[in-house]
Amino acid sequence: MKKQHIQIKETSFNNMNEIIHVEKLAFGSDEEAQLTTNLLKDKSAEPVLSLLAFDNKQAIGHILFTRAYINSMKNETLVHILAPLAVIPEYQNQGIGGMLIQEGIKRLKDMGSKLVFVLGHITYYPKHGFIPDAKKMGYPAPYPIPEEVKDAWMVQSLTSTGFITEKGDIICAKAMDKPEYWRE
Ligand SMILES: CC(C)(COP(=O)(O)OP(=O)(O)OC[C@H]1O[C@@H](n2cnc3c(N)ncnc32)[C@H](O)[C@@H]1OP(=O)(O)O)[C@@H](O)C(=O)NCCC(=O)NCCS
Repeated sequence: MKKQHIQIKETSFNNMNEIIHVEKLAFGSDEEAQLTTNLLKDKSAEPVLSLLAFDNKQAIGHILFTRAYINSMKNETLVHILAPLAVIPEYQNQGIGGMLIQEGIKRLKDMGSKLVFVLGHITYYPKHGFIPDAKKMGYPAPYPIPEEVKDAWMVQSLTSTGFITEKGDIICAKAMDKPEYWRE
């Protein structure tokens, strides 16, 4: 596999089967595929950014960013949460996840999004610009993150003004608003 052969494309409704296939293979269960399907139907998650990575015509990775809100769902500041990120097993550890994150961040900036959050692996996401312990930066997660894994809730600024803009509790889209999705 040569990285230059990988193409990243924004998804449409026609890609639903490929997205579900990638999520199921990557996680080895149906849970993330179901969450992704629900998020893609959720009005409160809009505007979403959903990208598929292809090797030739084969879908090999998927990343989803959904809208989040600071303090209130009426707040107009555009911020996003990254979840889930999935790369099918035979393509893992070859930089595809990193490519999806970088392309996603570029496109979120073009959309005018100000911040992106993730609850994930503490050794992985900081390599792509995420800062551990977003609560300490002023952005508590939608559900409390236990103290011993607080670094897993991370944030990245998408603007040159960084974190000087508003702070507050992060509210996620309705389809993600369940405590079981917030355990690291
Ligand atoms: C986690 C995942 C998205 C990473 O994508 P990828 O294309 O394999 O990763 P990349 O090639 O960009 O980066 C590889 C690095 O990630 C690390 N990594 C891969 N899976 C990891 C995991 N589960 N936990 C921590 N680090 C992991 C590798 O050790 C490697 O580190 P290195 O650069 O220091 O060698 C992918 O492995 C995957 O889909 N895993 C199963 C689903 C999952 O756990 N998703 C994460 C949701 S937060």
